[in-house]
Amino acid sequence: MRIKNTYYFDCNGTTPLHPEVDSFLKKNGHIFGNPSSLYRLGRNSHEIIEKTREQVSTLIHASTDSLIFTSGATEANNQVLKSVWVKHLLEHKPLHIISSSIEHSSIKDTLLFLEKMGVTVSYLPVTTEGITDISHLENILTPATGLITVMGANNETGVIQPIKSIADIAKKHHILFHCDAVQLLGKHPLNIEDMGVDFLSLSAHKYFAPKGVGVLYCKQPRSVMPLLHGGSQEQKRRSGTENLMGILGFSKALEVLSPHFSSPQDDLGAYLLHSLRTYIPETLLNGHETQRLSNTVNVSFLGISGEAVMMNLDLKGIAVSTGSACSTGSIEPSHVLTAMGLSLDRVKSAVRFSISPFTTKEDIDRVVETTRSIIKTLRTAS
Ligand SMILES: Cc1ncc(COP(=O)(O)O)c(C=O)c1O
Repeated sequence: MRIKNTYYFDCNGTTPLHPEVDSFLKKNGHIFGNPSSLYRLGRNSHEIIEKTREQVSTLIHASTDSLIFTSGATEANNQVLKSVWVKHLLEHKPLHIISSSIEHSSIKDTLLFLEKMGVTVSYLPVTTEGITDISHLENILTPATGLITVMGANNETGVIQPIKSIADIAKKHHILFHCDAVQLLGKHPLNIEDMGVDFLSLSAHKYFAPKGVGVLYCKQPRSVMPLLHGGSQEQKRRSGTENLMGILGFSKALEVLSPHFSSPQDDLGAYLLHSLRTYIPETLLNGHETQRLSNTVNVSFLGISGEAVMMNLDLKGIAVSTGSACSTGSIEPSHVLTAMGLSLDRVKSAVRFSISPFTTKEDIDRVVETTRSIIKTLRTAS
């Protein structure tokens, strides 16, 4: 996918506004009524929000009253975890949460916070192929286990997690189950009934819609406590005037993009991986060969720093990502690839390419050829 002068291969990070969403928002930028106001302008805005809620409900097979709009998936994830914690506090009951060791920081860091607050957290290990190992899940349940939270697909590797199997175990033991499904949206079927989850988080900006809009699905909306107080919006579960333009853009994105769901990108993801492996020696795929979102190709170019590859590609107008996080001024190796037990060399040399339904074969050829040439130069220099 080309955005102005950039070959954009970082669609798991975010997506640009779809051109139709962009022009639709420009045409409708005059809509400003507060959705809580009772006069016509307000009612019009309210209708936009309810129409979008219906679209999401149809998409994921959930009832409209089970959906709460938030500022993004970070907020939705925080709301579930902190809400379960507060409920246990109020009932003076200890809380144990089970998660995976490859969650996005919005889960990982919230769990670290909750641990400081006295919550016990167990982290399920993952296989070398990035799949959460649930073989001992039932053994680590305790009478205090109140929540299991595991992502639908990993943002770095694209590996799809065994959500249904976890949901079955959670249900059998009457434990709530939350899934951070951000990376599934538009890339994989998302059916609440099939998944069997109690809570699920989504984010609009991974889907060619504006940033600052998320959705929290709650099977029992009353079971979730608000993070924010001060208004009656979203069944009093999320106070604050809604992000009207963001939600309007999300509505348009859902309308425009749903036909792309059964994705032509499938073959292109495989083509990208095949080309990288064919033209660049010592290219190793990080993650499961098939149980993976086909748009996501995380590979290690052994012996070369992933950051060096990313920065050199950037100079050539190509945007990709590494899984490393920048914290306190130093670069931390990806916790996801580390949890998979990969060697430090392999972790440090990882680069993630993530494409969209609008990526073309020509884009891929150009990106692979440029990557090949950069790796060759870097390997010669080292
Ligand atoms: C798996 C996953 N969860 C949560 C988030 C956070 O979403 P948001 O940017 O809407 O807060 C992201 C975004 O990078 C993600 O990839």
